[in-house]
This record gives sequence, structure tokens and C-alpha cells, in this order.
Amino acid sequence: MENQENIKVKVIPGGPLMVSGTCEITHADGTVEVKENKTTYCRCGLSKNKPFCDGGHKGTEWDK
Ligand code: FES
Repeated sequence: MENQENIKVKVIPGGPLMVSGTCEITHADGTVEVKENKTTYCRCGLSKNKPFCDGGHKGTEWDK
């Protein structure tokens, strides 16, 4: 995948990283996935769908 656009990363306070733009993700098992538009990535470690945020941070001490 060529880098064809400007990718922006926003830190959501008490929440995930929000990445805007098309990203190619290589997972730990070597599979490759392309995400377009906005994707949220877990930074709390509580998601059951890493590397993506599944909302698991909500209502925890981490989101305060
Ligand atoms: S940041 Fe949302 S589950 Fe980790």
C-alpha cells in the first residue's frame, strides 16, 4: 500500500487513539488488514479486540 494521503492521529482523553485516513495493519499473526476513514485503537489494554478499541475503557478507572 502506498502512502497516498495525510494520516491524522488524535488522542482521545481517557479513551483510544483515533486514526483518520487509510491504514494498512499487519497483525501479530501476519495477516494484513486495511482500515479506511476513522479507526480507534486501544491504548488502555482492556479491549478484547486489540489493537482496536471496543469501548472496554468506559466506566473504568482508566477513563477518568
Ligand atoms: S481504549 Fe478503548 S478499550 Fe482500550
